[in-house]
Amino acid sequence: MNFIFLGPPGAGKGTLAKQAAQVYGIPHISTGDIFRENIKNQTELGKKVDAIIKSGGLVSDDITCELVKDRLSKPDTKNGYILDGFPRTIPQAEALESFAKIDAAVNFDIADEAVVERLGGRVCCKECGQMFHVKFNPPKQAGKCDKCGGELYTRDDDKTESIQNRLVVYRKSTAPLIDFYKNKGNLVDIDARPAPEAILAEFEKKFPKK
Ligand code: AP5
Repeated sequence: MNFIFLGPPGAGKGTLAKQAAQVYGIPHISTGDIFRENIKNQTELGKKVDAIIKSGGLVSDDITCELVKDRLSKPDTKNGYILDGFPRTIPQAEALESFAKIDAAVNFDIADEAVVERLGGRVCCKECGQMFHVKFNPPKQAGKCDKCGGELYTRDDDKTESIQNRLVVYRKSTAPLIDFYKNKGNLVDIDARPAPEAILAEFEKKFPKK
């Protein structure tokens, strides 16, 4: 199946996408991860989007759509994929329709206070990208990745000011996609409040593996 994961920043889209990708054997495609990888490697694209991402704004629709179109043309997407963080605007959703067929838009339902707490405590590994939360999923040793021993850091856009801006941008540009997909009949709400294992169980119940 071809999934879209929709929801506010910090709702747990990436966390569920990583687990579900393993369970269903399909790729997890995160536009945020692709941009961050480009920033880390100082590519032309990375230089172009660095300041936008730090501030919590959105990269232009043209750049983002081109990137996703190219990624979806790769053979590993043949049996399905999870698009995490794309589309994020109505023009992106309309463009997506011209090069992909989406089976379900999964909408992560959660209150702002919870996402602020989740983002405020998130730390990621500089080496392998593994995510932790200082309260909900702390690393065994503070500042060190359990998986590879790499250094843990706080994303630039997880600073208080950027979090607030991301929520404003989400409400203005991305939340309208909920109605967009509801009208198409393929919106599926998921309760994003429980622990990750419970959310994965709910997801698997809603989308039984074939
Ligand atoms: P992106 O990386 O997509 O960021 P986001 O949508 O803001 O989502 P996050 O990664 O912050 O949160 P998440 O929902 O994945 O939550 P997570 O699982 O990490 O985008 C970054 C930037 O790139 C954008 O701001 C924009 O500039 C640009 N961009 C990307 N796509 C774009 C597009 N299409 N168009 C234009 N620009 C684009 O969890 C968060 C924390 O909570 C973690 O610490 C985790 O451990 C914890 N947690 C997760 N689930 C639970 C749970 N169930 N219970 C308790 N804690 C939990």
